[in-house]
Amino acid sequence: MTAIRICSAAGAYDVHFSRGAIRRLPPLLERLGDSSGVYVLSSPRVWRHWGAAVTKNIRGWRGNRAILFDDAESAKRLATVEQIARKLIRAGADRDAILVALGGGVVGDVAGFAAATYLRGVRLVHVPTTLVAQVDSSIGGKTGVDLPEGKNLLGAFYPPKLVITDPDTLHTLPQREYRSGLYEVIKYGVIADRELFAYLVRHMPALLGRDPRALAWVIPRCIRIKARVVQKDERDGGLRQILNFGHTLGHAFETATNYRRFLHGEAVGVGLCGATLLALVSERISVKEAAGIIYLVQSIGAVPAVPELSRGQLHKLLSSDKKSRKGSVRWVLPRQIGKCEWGVELPWTLVEKVARALPLMMREENFGIMGMRRGRK
Ligand code: NAD
Ligand code: GLY
Repeated sequence: MTAIRICSAAGAYDVHFSRGAIRRLPPLLERLGDSSGVYVLSSPRVWRHWGAAVTKNIRGWRGNRAILFDDAESAKRLATVEQIARKLIRAGADRDAILVALGGGVVGDVAGFAAATYLRGVRLVHVPTTLVAQVDSSIGGKTGVDLPEGKNLLGAFYPPKLVITDPDTLHTLPQREYRSGLYEVIKYGVIADRELFAYLVRHMPALLGRDPRALAWVIPRCIRIKARVVQKDERDGGLRQILNFGHTLGHAFETATNYRRFLHGEAVGVGLCGATLLALVSERISVKEAAGIIYLVQSIGAVPAVPELSRGQLHKLLSSDKKSRKGSVRWVLPRQIGKCEWGVELPWTLVEKVARALPLMMREENFGIMGMRRGRK
């Protein structure tokens, strides 16, 4: 078992990583001290696969302490948090309760926000079951829900007391969901870790096949990078923005297609290529390094068709990005593999040019060149 300690303003917590780690939840919960009850917040799908493994041996476990909710992005709303809170009240959860978020990023964000606000805050434990949640959303304390006006607009910084990361839970994840997490893994290599990037280049086929040894190398590596970043800038005032590499254009394409065409990670994959092209045309990165990043992204396989955006659409979508200030977009751009800069302002002409290139560049036939095909499962 690998334990990675993360310091936060609300106290330190450990991320326990190992195969089979979820079966160690009960003894690890005991270490958090007395509780009046453990409540598992999850989705019906994740619960079906992993509910029994997680709850076996939890002291005093009762069926009404499993609170299941829809984890579609469209259900990541305040109404879901209210329903959870009402179920917690009815099940008798008090301030000494512990909430366990068992699932992907949606479950973690919603359950985390419920934990932050229920009775003004109860203890939270994350058990992430997607690659995105294991390398990203379970670490760093961001919780929240969407508004019709945009994603993650309502939320709180609320770090967990414990994270239990078991790569075996990824085996029940549909292949498309799993692949979409690999784009977030590439993100870490580009922004902070040249060695990770080189490993991904060498081992992408093994990772696509969910090889346990490759996952055991990659996941803790990503967790450590995120831990380093959030410890330096927990409240997202500066450095933490590097974690949004690829997200500025990615969110624009997700929003433009009403969150229906892309999985979040796939949109980030397109955004990674877009931000790399921006770094290239603004002469920040060499052609060789830029090509290496784009090639690695494309080696995961093709993404859904990237929409062509009108100039007006592009300006509107990018100006509402959370990193924009007074309508000016702040970009996270790679300088070389393993190093990036943030808060970069660029002329709109460059951004428009790159946004026009992406639908062509990300076309399926380009992936075919490398023997990859659009894989939908
Ligand atoms: P997700 O939570 O939407 O889950 C994807 C699908 O996989 C769901 O249908 C879920 O039921 C299913 N699933 C999850 N685990 C499974 C398993 N082990 N076996 C079978 N099915 C399983 O996807 P995600 O990519 O983990 O999360 C995306 C969300 O995370 C977005 O809302 C995004 O905003 C958020 N996010 C938050 C942070 C943060 O720092 N808080 C960081 C990144 C992403
Ligand atoms: N996933 C971005 C962040 O945690 O800041």
